[in-house]
Amino acid sequence: MPDRRTKRTTGGPVPCRVVVCRDCCCGSPKVTGDHAAQTARLRAEVPVRVSDCLDVCEQANVIVVQPSTAGRAAGARPVWLGLVNDADATEDIVGWVRAGGPGVAPLPDVLDLYAFTPPRRRGGA
Ligand code: FES
Repeated sequence: MPDRRTKRTTGGPVPCRVVVCRDCCCGSPKVTGDHAAQTARLRAEVPVRVSDCLDVCEQANVIVVQPSTAGRAAGARPVWLGLVNDADATEDIVGWVRAGGPGVAPLPDVLDLYAFTPPRRRGGA
């Protein structure tokens, strides 16, 4: 019998996933790096949603790791990562998400260097 705490009323459990910011700064020529390759790499491995500007352009490229249903049940909140502008950091994100992400797998020390607290937002990433 499935654990009801990990179920949404509209479907099954939601996996850990990432929001990739792509707008005026993230993914633009203002920021170094192969942005298309970054997005493609993430999409090949984990669920991805591309977002308009998340209003923290000074942190471009911004990636937000959203907890799975199980992660949220464990108390996890979205983890905001900034200055994600190299392939190694992208691989570290892939590995963490595949391991379960926030609330399920500990944040790797290397990704802790990218984590930041976003300003209060009206909506959610
Ligand atoms: S374009 Fe990503 S935070 Fe503004």
